[in-house]
Amino acid sequence: MDLIVAGNRAELRKAREVAGPGRYALVPTMGALHEGHRSLIRLAGERAEHVVVSIFVNPLQFGPNEDFSRYPRTFDADLAVCEQEGVRAVFAPSAADMYLPDRQVAVSAGAMGTVVEGAFRPGHFDGVLTVVLKLFNLVQPDLAIFGQKDAQQLALIRRMVADLDVPVEIVAAPTVREPDGLALSSRNRYLSARERVTALELSRALRAGAVQREPARIRQAARAVLEEAARLDPPLLLDYLALVDPASFTDVGEGYRRQAVLAVAAKVGTTRLIDNMVLDLG
Ligand code: PAJ
Repeated sequence: MDLIVAGNRAELRKAREVAGPGRYALVPTMGALHEGHRSLIRLAGERAEHVVVSIFVNPLQFGPNEDFSRYPRTFDADLAVCEQEGVRAVFAPSAADMYLPDRQVAVSAGAMGTVVEGAFRPGHFDGVLTVVLKLFNLVQPDLAIFGQKDAQQLALIRRMVADLDVPVEIVAAPTVREPDGLALSSRNRYLSARERVTALELSRALRAGAVQREPARIRQAARAVLEEAARLDPPLLLDYLALVDPASFTDVGEGYRRQAVLAVAAKVGTTRLIDNMVLDLG
């Protein structure tokens, strides 16, 4: 079956009629698709008859000084990836199609949206949750796939679904990395060769933390790598290192014995990168 490309909500409705009955899995993306996105699409295909990929660079989730205007847009290549992966429909609306000019009501991520990543990106998670809920309402999928790469986003989407009784099953997919450890990201293409070498210290810090078992030692081991990386040329400029409960994103204390997320965010040159690892402290 050919890939259906829906550029607005009317075309999306038609696409669902053409595709017919069966389970639908949604993979929300902002495009510039890479192997990480591809792995989400494959997981979706294992879980449902029909896979819908949304491609929408959501203005609501970018701050005024963030990279909305220069965010990579590679639509033709993205369609080729979706075609190769047997995607049923791509939903790629315009911003005007998604948001009414007089829009008022939005989803609030609450206090959980203001910590860790949220502390550095005010309003970001409100923007993410608002667009994801809209995509759920428009596509009406049975399930949706999100990457562990964006661990706080995943946790907040699970919270939204629980708190607002959203009838969509949330499935998490593991982080896909380059052979040298760098987590795949649409933003990696901004990195120069030398910046990319510095960027490797993010995943190296996580691995250094991951071999420890006590929260204080985990933080200390990861921080030691990041402090060295701050002296490289070009340097790694740390935003945060956090060891948190995967569901609430609150800091874990000594004696904690369940799963925890070790999360890091840093700038290398003008590129901001995030990464995390799930550690089992049980
Ligand atoms: P985007 O950054 O395009 O990511 C789309 C999905 O791909 C997210 O669920 C993200 O966690 C996942 N992903 C990114 N890099 C990955 C990697 N290396 N391995 C596995 N999965 C990876 O996240 C967004 O878009 C937006 O916030 C969105 C949810 C679409 C709302 O606008």
